[in-house]
Amino acid sequence: MKNLAKLIVISVVGLAGLFVFLGSVDLSRMGSVVLAKVAINPTPTPAPPETNTNAATPTTPSSGDKSIPKTFTLAKDSVSEYGEVAFDHDSHAFKNYSPDGKSVMGCVQCHHTDQPKSALKPPLVTSERDVVMTLETWKASPQKVNNCRTCHFQDGNVPDGKTMPQGIYASGAKSTTVDMTNQEAYHRNCNACHDAAFKLRPELKSKPGFATTKDCTVCHKTN
Ligand code: HEC
Ligand code: HEC
Ligand code: HEC
Ligand code: HEC
Repeated sequence: MKNLAKLIVISVVGLAGLFVFLGSVDLSRMGSVVLAKVAINPTPTPAPPETNTNAATPTTPSSGDKSIPKTFTLAKDSVSEYGEVAFDHDSHAFKNYSPDGKSVMGCVQCHHTDQPKSALKPPLVTSERDVVMTLETWKASPQKVNNCRTCHFQDGNVPDGKTMPQGIYASGAKSTTVDMTNQEAYHRNCNACHDAAFKLRPELKSKPGFATTKDCTVCHKTN
């Protein structure tokens, strides 16, 4: 009888210990993930991403209350002969779409203003969010994500009271400032990575829709 009571006490204490242990493992893990996210200092937009622990866990975005459209048609209102561009947001945000194909890029690879000032690397200085955006931090916050076109206007189409973001154009030893229009901003973002990916994996060229800088009409439908 006494032994049985002892056994029960021991197993209860043991179980409780186990739970505490599991709980603490879990918590410390989460802590380190969060720290890694903050500490990572994501690469500025045009540079190819390094292995990125900032990557959101590849859960489908539709699993939360908030969801992101899986695909977008960009350049719908193009004023040139280069028209619509298909963009699979879901693959780019949640699959291994880094240039080497080995990791998930962070949201801020593209949404460069959605991170704190302290996480920005030159030439980026503009910050709109206090935490680095990941799927989790995005879901946890009511703050909306601004379209690139909120700031990167079409050429000659700057609304009253706004200014066109400026970028650096380097050619040899010279560098000049250029208007970061929608064309310039998206091209730098999309093409820098695709060109880097193609260099590492030339076989990507056979993938339908995959384009490097000069493949204008692989991306754009002609108007
Ligand atoms: C990786 C895909 C991709 C490639 C390759 C590409 N573009 Fe684009 N282009 C885009 C995207 C995305 C936009 C901006 C869409 C938006 O503003 O919604 C854009 C914007 C433009 C615009 C501005 C359209 C407007 O009126 O707003 C022009 C002009 C343009 N591209 C021409 C070209 C030319 C010329 C080439 C080849 C030298 C080229 N593009 C290659 C994706 C691409
Ligand atoms: C809130 C305004 C804003 C939004 C939204 C925004 N940008 Fe920018 N972007 C800027 C400004 C301003 C700069 C100039 C550098 C700076 O101030 O950080 C810039 C610079 C850039 C650069 C040049 C970086 C370099 O190395 O010179 C690229 C590329 C770019 N943006 C792409 C994008 C893309 C792609 C999106 C959407 C996914 C986007 N931006 C959304 C304001 C914005
Ligand atoms: C490869 C670049 C890229 C990556 C990575 C990326 N996005 Fe986007 N995102 C875009 C583009 C381009 C759009 C289309 C709207 C625009 O042009 O800004 C967009 C649109 C969105 C929108 C809708 C904005 C609106 O209301 O129209 C949300 C929300 C969003 N992204 C969140 C995220 C989150 C969260 C992540 C990371 C888990 C992420 N994105 C990763 C490029 C990207
Ligand atoms: C940081 C890297 C990176 C950025 C930024 C990026 N892409 Fe991609 N993209 C890839 C890679 C890698 C692939 C090929 C993926 C594979 O098949 O393994 C790809 C494939 C594609 C494809 C082929 C179909 C598909 O979805 O797989 C299209 C179209 C495309 N990208 C459009 C865009 C556009 C438009 C932008 C800019 C708004 C963009 N990408 C920005 C890395 C990038």
